[in-house]
Amino acid sequence: MITGATRGLGRALTEEFIRLGHAVVGCGRSGKEIVQLQKQFAAPNDFAVINVADDSQVAAWAGRILPSHGPPDLLLNNAALINRKGKLWDVPAQEFSDVVDVNIKGVTNVIRHFVPAMVKRRSGIIVNFSSGWGRSTDAEVAPYCATKWAIEGLTQALAQELPAGMAAVPLNPGIIATDMLRSCFGGSASGYPTSTAWARSAAPFLLKINSADNGKPMTAPS
Ligand SMILES: NC(=O)c1ccc[n+]([C@@H]2O[C@H](COP(=O)([O-])OP(=O)(O)OC[C@H]3O[C@@H](n4cnc5c(N)ncnc54)[C@H](OP(=O)(O)O)[C@@H]3O)[C@@H](O)[C@H]2O)c1
Repeated sequence: MITGATRGLGRALTEEFIRLGHAVVGCGRSGKEIVQLQKQFAAPNDFAVINVADDSQVAAWAGRILPSHGPPDLLLNNAALINRKGKLWDVPAQEFSDVVDVNIKGVTNVIRHFVPAMVKRRSGIIVNFSSGWGRSTDAEVAPYCATKWAIEGLTQALAQELPAGMAAVPLNPGIIATDMLRSCFGGSASGYPTSTAWARSAAPFLLKINSADNGKPMTAPS
């Protein structure tokens, strides 16, 4: 299961996992991209327009997916937003709320509705996408840094709640040329690997995460 499957790292992982023979359940807000994924990848793959920041949409999504697909083996909380670059005091209240709503509350909404079924089955891996900026900081991305530092803490606390056999880890994916990177790095983003190249090494790495990794901050291979 991958949130934010319509673009960037989530899209590239979707394509790579399917190429490797796995079934992917994914979501995003962009209807056009979701329709394209639905056409490209037939059942048991499943793609839906879901805003993870909306708890009722995530509840309905889980209500449909869990009976048809069962609990996810690998849950990737990938969907996130970054603020437009700016000093913290210049970030409008609504923009700050939007970043928190997706990056922290959205991750928690997905955990709230999918993880109980994983816990009941006592298996499954939860990967919450963090960032280099979840372990360090930079000027003009304070809202994003705040949410990614939150992901590190939230995930390590969650790891202490899981039964033996499961794992929750925060993942720094590295630096990859996606829309998000272009929004903060501008033209220099093109000097970084594409999401397709990144997914070739990230997918096997993600598939190897196991219960011995529970609570460990991880970094994808570069
Ligand atoms: N790229 C990097 O170098 C980098 C570095 C460190 C960490 N990360 C992390 O890696 C993850 C993926 O980043 P990316 O670079 O691929 O970003 P991206 O290119 O901006 O893609 C973000 C994805 O999240 C989805 N999304 C955003 N808000 C959503 C919402 N409310 N509900 C559902 N889906 C939503 C977007 O789809 P829609 O617009 O269709 O909703 C899109 O598919 C993020 O957690 C990011 O913080 C990336």
